[in-house]
Amino acid sequence: MGKIISIANQKGGVGKTTTAVNLSAGLGKMGKKVLLIDIDPQGNATSGVGVDKRAVKHSTYDVFVEGVSGKDTVVKTQFQNLDILPSSLDLAAAELEIADRQHRESILKNAVIELRDKYDYIIIDCPPSLGLITVNALCLCDTILVPIQCEYYALEGLSQLMNTVRRVKRSYNEHIDIEGVLLTMYDGRLNLTQQVVEEVKRFFPRKVFNTVIPRAVRLSEAPSFGTPIMYYDRAGKGSVAYMELSKEIDKKNKGV
Ligand SMILES: Nc1ncnc2c1ncn2[C@@H]1O[C@H](COP(=O)(O)OP(=O)(O)OP(=O)(O)O)[C@@H](O)[C@H]1O
Ligand SMILES: [Mg+2]
Repeated sequence: MGKIISIANQKGGVGKTTTAVNLSAGLGKMGKKVLLIDIDPQGNATSGVGVDKRAVKHSTYDVFVEGVSGKDTVVKTQFQNLDILPSSLDLAAAELEIADRQHRESILKNAVIELRDKYDYIIIDCPPSLGLITVNALCLCDTILVPIQCEYYALEGLSQLMNTVRRVKRSYNEHIDIEGVLLTMYDGRLNLTQQVVEEVKRFFPRKVFNTVIPRAVRLSEAPSFGTPIMYYDRAGKGSVAYMELSKEIDKKNKGV
C-alpha cells in the first residue's frame, strides 16, 4: 500500500510545488511508482511535470465537484514512474461548490483510495490555504511534509497549520503524523538563514530533515520547461538535494 504525503504550508511561495514535483520525480527515478496529486488551482505542479492543464480530460475539479473517480483522472507523465491527477483553474470555485455537502472533507479520500495499492507513494501538492481543499488532503494522507523557506517570519502561521492538523487528527484521521519539516531556499552565506534553521529546529525538535534544499536558480527555471530538476540539470545542486530528500524519505519509510 502506498504512502500518502501531503506537502502543506498555507504560507505562499515556500517551495511546496517545487518540492512536490521534484520529490515525486526523484522517487520515480529511484524506481518507486508515484502519483502526484495537484489540488492547487494555480496548477503549477501539473505544468511542472509537462502536462497541459487545458488538454486533460478530467482534473481534480471534476474529482471534487463532479464525482469523477481518481482512476479516470490519472494522466501519465513522460517521466519515469510518475503519474499525476492534474489540476485546473476552475478548482478555485470547488471549495464553495462543495461547502454544503455531507462528508465534504473526505471527497478526495473516497476518490483516491482505490489507487493506493497501485503506487508506492502518493504526493499531494496543497494550495497556500487551510481551507476545505487542503483539509481534504489532510484527511487522506498518512503524513505531512512542511516546507519552510529560510526567510524572515519563517515560522509565521505554523501554529495555525499545526492546529488544523490536530483538528483533522481528532475528527477524521487519527493516524496523521508529520513526515518532516524541509528547509528550502537555503543560503548558508546568510546569518539570517542560520538563525531560521535554529528557530525551526526548536519549534520542531527531531522533525527537520537532514537534507536541506539550497537556493538554486535552476530549480526556478525547470518549471518553465515542464521538467523536474533531475531531467533538466541532473548534476546540479538542486537535483542532488531533491534526490537526497527522496532517498531520506524512502529510507525512513522502509524503517532502515
Ligand atoms: N530552492 C529554490 N531555489 C530557488 N528558487 C526556488 C527554490 N524553491 C522554489 N523556488 C522558486 O520560488 C517560487 C515559489 O516556489 P513554489 O512555487 O514551489 O512555492 P509554493 O509554496 O508552491 O507557492 P504557492 O504557495 O504559491 O503554491 C517559485 O518561483 C520557485 O521556482
Ligand atoms: Mg504551489
